[in-house]
This record gives sequence, C-alpha cells and structure tokens, in this order.
Amino acid sequence: MTTDSTKKTLAQLGVDSIEKVAILFDGLRTAFDQDAAQDIDSIDLGITRVRWLGRKSGVLSEIGENWLKPATKDIKPAVGQSLNALKAHIEERIQALTVAKEAAVEHAGAARDQIDLSLPGVERAIGTRHLIRQTFDELLRIFLSIGFSVVEGPEIETPYYNFEALNIPEHHPARDNMDTFYIEGARGGHLLRTHTSPMQIRTMEKQPPPVRIVVPGKVYRRDNPDATHGYMFHQIEGLAVDTDITFCDFKGSVEYFVREFFGPKTKTRLRPSYFPFTEPSAEVDASCHVCGGSGCRVCKFSGWIELFGAGMVDPAVYGFVNYDPGKLSGFAFGMGVDRLAMMKYGITELPLLFQNDVRFLRQFP
Ligand code: PHE
Repeated sequence: MTTDSTKKTLAQLGVDSIEKVAILFDGLRTAFDQDAAQDIDSIDLGITRVRWLGRKSGVLSEIGENWLKPATKDIKPAVGQSLNALKAHIEERIQALTVAKEAAVEHAGAARDQIDLSLPGVERAIGTRHLIRQTFDELLRIFLSIGFSVVEGPEIETPYYNFEALNIPEHHPARDNMDTFYIEGARGGHLLRTHTSPMQIRTMEKQPPPVRIVVPGKVYRRDNPDATHGYMFHQIEGLAVDTDITFCDFKGSVEYFVREFFGPKTKTRLRPSYFPFTEPSAEVDASCHVCGGSGCRVCKFSGWIELFGAGMVDPAVYGFVNYDPGKLSGFAFGMGVDRLAMMKYGITELPLLFQNDVRFLRQFP
C-alpha cells in the first residue's frame, strides 16, 4: 500500500480534504506499526529504517516529494503536520526498538555464558591411596579382626636383632642369602633390616607373653633389580606367642588369612621349608588365583602359588628374650606385601609400583 500510494500525488489519490489526509496518514501509521511489530530477535532495524526514513526512496521522502510539495494550499499545512507527526512516531519507535534489541542481544550472550547444568562436569582427579598402602590396609584389617595389634620398628637395625637373636649366628649361611646392605662407619655396625623379623625380638624383649602382633614395614636387600625384585620391598611380619598355641592354630590362622585376602574358594598348602628362627618351618602356598588350581602359565602348571614363609617359633629364639620355652609356644610369618599386591591385582612388573605413574596408580581407586 505505502509504496504504491506514496508514488502518486494527493490529487491523484483523490485526497482533497483534511479529513482524508488524516485517514491516509492513519493508514500509513498502521502500516509502519505492523512493519515494526516483528519479533525483536528477527527484525532488521537497519532495513526498517531505510524503508521508512531513507533519504532517497524512504516512504517519508516520497511523501515529502509527492504529497507535500504539490499539495494545494488548503490541505498543505495538514499534510505537513501529519508528516512530522508520523516521522516523530517512526523515529521514536525505531529508537525504542534499537534499545530493546541491544538488551535482547546482551541477554542472549549472558544466557550463553551461563553454566549448562545438563553438560557433563569437568572431572577433577583426586588422589588415591597407593596400591601398596591399600594392600597394607587390607592385611591389617584382616589381622586386626582376629586379635593382632600393629607395631612398627626401625629400618636401620643392628646385626643382633636382624640376625643373632633370630638364631642366625655370625657365620650362618642364611646371612649370605639375605644380601644385606651394611652401613659403613656406623658405630657398633648397623645395617638396613633385611626382613621385619627383628621386631619379633624387640617386641618380646619389651613385653611379657602373650604376644599377638603384626609388623608392616620396608625391608632392604641387595638384589639385582628386575621385574620382580628391587632394593627395597615391603613386608608384614606376624608373631603369636602364648602358653597353648599349637600347629593347628598356626594352620587355621594362615588358612583364614588366605581366604580373606584371596577369596573364600582359595585353598592353602604348607610345604616344609627352613628358617633359622622357626621349627618346623613352612612355605605357605595358595591355590592359583588365576586358574583356580587346574594349572596355567602363572602357576607354572602346578596349580599352586608360593605366598610366604612361616612356622612355629624356634624355642632357641625364646632364649634371647627371656621367655620360657618350656611353657610357651607360638607361630610367626613374614609376607612380601608387594608380591601379594601383584598377585591380587594381576601386576607382572614390580617397578610399576614404585614409578608413581598416575596413569597406572589411578587404575586402583
Ligand atoms: N623373615 C623371613 C623372610 O624374610 C620370613 C619369615 C618370617 C619366615 C617369619 C618365618 C617366620 O624371608
């Protein structure tokens, strides 16, 4: 409507009175209002402005040219006033829309910056207890549940506690097997303990029977490092001494431990062995955790896996701590914790436990 009518003069449109001028301008105002009534997000105010206010071919320019200029005297003032009023209305409206549009754009931006709660969160890795720590905790849980308490002792030991009092005299071949680190220049001769067994002696020296302790800790040996050996590893020692402890108690405790640690189906076997501080001595084997005992590569097709050394406390040991071997009996064991962890979690390389590569450690939350 607007484009057509504004190309003609008022005379051509048959507008010859002030009333008709008013009606004509009312129509234009309605047309503009419709044009400006679009959705605030989709309206292009630049186009609207040019269409209505453009100098060259805007609607208002055409009205000035085609309606106002040639208008007859009697209606000219009315056309001029109406034109000014329409112009004011259009400018005011476009200005208001511009402000509203800016606000809408800002609002959309703010909405975009808002946190979208439906998105997956950013994962912040939290630390885990080291696998060895976890294994210690599990071992302690088991032994505490059957009445053992925890003691710890020094890693720097004297030959007396590490060897002599454990019935390993000066030239005993068992000393060679241990590949001991000696600390040079230390007064009285010191060494890094090769096992946690010295704490058997230290504990019995300090307290009267009964004794029921476990000793977690680090031990050191001059092994050549490889997939299953290092200079340092972890042990947990156990010692139970009382007036009536039998081999049955020993076997029962060991079997209980193995079932708790490796699962209720695991079987236990005692194999004769030798340690200077236990008599009889045994290697404790468990049915293979991989094949269940039928034989596989892991157990070298024997169905059994060697777990740890143990035995009844050798009466000679009581002599070093002033315990009465005629009245007392007991059992002891010493387990390699790293080895137990590797078996339980299927780890084949010992160094992985000490390299602290978080990609490895995070697999054990
Ligand atoms: N101390 C022995 C070792 O390290 C293990 C052991 C402890 C054996 C207690 C018997 C009794 O090999």
